[in-house]
Amino acid sequence: MTETNPRTELLNALPLREDLRGKSPYGAPQLEVPVTLNTNENTHPVPTEVQQAIVEEVSMAALNLNRYPDREFTELREELAAYLGQGLGPENLWAANGSNEILQQLMQAFGGPGRSVLSFVPTYSMYPILAAGTNTEFIAGQRAADFTLSPESAAAQVREHKPSIVILCSPNNPTGTALEDDVVDAVYQAGEASNSIVIVDEAYAEFARNPATTALSLLPGRPRLVVTRTMSKAFALAGARIGYFAAAAEIADAIRLVRLPYHLSAVSQATALAALRHRSSLLADVEDIKMQRDRIVDELKRLGLQPSESDSNFVFFGGDFDAPALWQELLSRGILIRDVGIAGHLRVTAGTEEETTAFLEAVETHLTR
Ligand SMILES: Cc1ncc(COP(=O)(O)O)c(C=O)c1O
Repeated sequence: MTETNPRTELLNALPLREDLRGKSPYGAPQLEVPVTLNTNENTHPVPTEVQQAIVEEVSMAALNLNRYPDREFTELREELAAYLGQGLGPENLWAANGSNEILQQLMQAFGGPGRSVLSFVPTYSMYPILAAGTNTEFIAGQRAADFTLSPESAAAQVREHKPSIVILCSPNNPTGTALEDDVVDAVYQAGEASNSIVIVDEAYAEFARNPATTALSLLPGRPRLVVTRTMSKAFALAGARIGYFAAAAEIADAIRLVRLPYHLSAVSQATALAALRHRSSLLADVEDIKMQRDRIVDELKRLGLQPSESDSNFVFFGGDFDAPALWQELLSRGILIRDVGIAGHLRVTAGTEEETTAFLEAVETHLTR
């Protein structure tokens, strides 16, 4: 679904940067429907006890809102390091307003005019947009026809393009599957000659079928490796806008050169701290979401479709069906899923049990009519 901008002519009359002319903004449709399964949010509401803890922490922060917040968000970095474990300390952590801002800050520091960022499509649609915003060339690397990425192919593409930055999305959005460590390692080694920063975007890591699947364990001895995470998905805090990364301490020092002063508000810091301190009840919902996700994979297979194996809170599926017709019919029944622009495929977020049932029943009705 592309929206046309009624002000295009007026926009073109402005002294906009030439390289931004004709570009489209990020545009997942925002429609008011009963079942919203199109942006990979956590569909489970924040548990009451966590809501209360957030309100308490934020109301304490409100007493000091006349002052700028802790520019170094030290307490939050300590709490994030404790959550990740792996021998990481606060000096290895950095946070920002969602992992989108984290990725933007990394591109500001390590990308820019004359530099490039390589990622492997189809992948998260914000990467080229962030590249455009920071005047970094986006190189669309290739995957196999089944959307997998082998260590050999990934490394060869890094050696060919010599990018300043490589982004590996694992689990990959929109296809849902996590990468094995050997892909990350092969890309890291191939980037040695070009001194490439290797970012592993682990926005969905907590949903992996094997929870040990994380590039965090590869950080020791790899100073160019950055693992990005978010509280938008497993922690059910998409509305709070908190993302973070773990890396060598000097990567955080590089980001300090480009971040806005006091970029992470006292309210955001208080929210994140309260959520991290109550993580056991928040993360309990991850198990339910994984169950719904597996249910979607199993049921779609039973209906003769071809879902990809998923390590995330969503399922990407293809098969012998009319994707635009199914998308439209689901919408007419009040269920919004995502057409990611890949012919013959759709992507659906795992919902609550009721939402997932509504989706599966509507698909079955459509296919068996
Ligand atoms: C792969 C991936 N990375 C990063 C993000 C950004 O998340 P946020 O900015 O909410 O942390 C998303 C959001 O959908 C995503 O799918």
